[in-house]
Amino acid sequence: MKKTIEEHADRFSDIAGDYDDEQDSDEYRACVSLVVEHANPSEDDAILDLGTGTGAIVLALAPDAKRVIARDISEGMMDEGRKKAEANGLDNVEFGEGRFRAPNVDGEKIDIVVSNFTMHHLSDEEKREAIEAIADLGPRKFVLGDVMFFGTPDPDEPFYSPEVDDPSTVGHLADVLTDNGFSLTSVERVHEQVGVLVAERYGE
Ligand SMILES: C[S@@+](CC[C@H](N)C(=O)[O-])C[C@H]1O[C@@H](n2cnc3c(N)ncnc32)[C@H](O)[C@@H]1O
Repeated sequence: MKKTIEEHADRFSDIAGDYDDEQDSDEYRACVSLVVEHANPSEDDAILDLGTGTGAIVLALAPDAKRVIARDISEGMMDEGRKKAEANGLDNVEFGEGRFRAPNVDGEKIDIVVSNFTMHHLSDEEKREAIEAIADLGPRKFVLGDVMFFGTPDPDEPFYSPEVDDPSTVGHLADVLTDNGFSLTSVERVHEQVGVLVAERYGE
């Protein structure tokens, strides 16, 4: 991680009020749509969103799920999400402090884990620890939308900020997911540096 958790939290809280308006790239929108589409919950499912931000993913999924647990390190970002959940009458979404390696779900059964545009803040080794923690929660599905490298990234056109972000290759993510008992059931390439991975565990 190129910044501490506290530095990332402060950075996002500072921009929380403008965050939604600034997410205007086709790649971000495509990622949100694909994560929501692949999560595809049923009305009995409990969903955990890690790095929920202002709730782009959870607000779309909540109407189709039993319960949504939205976790982030930035209270400023989550406050924006809470306002939108309330305005939309969504009373099955719970925002609260939580991070990849300590999701703060208190032993609750989680059916689906989602995460969009967040895991790239972690180093390769931290992503491995994060995916181990996600696997420990026992979900049947993990849908990850993020900055990730399908090939060698063009140094002149990074889709990320090298001073704060630390994206992995798709190969590294696939290895860690399979090492933790997931099968990669879908790989969506949105851009050479952006994709959505769907990882599932059968018979659990
Ligand atoms: C680029 S925003 C993405 C927000 C949302 N998922 C979306 O798709 O719009 C990244 C979010 O990840 C949060 N974050 C960064 N590092 C985190 C960590 N280790 N655990 C949980 N959240 C983290 C930030 O506070 C921020 O709200």
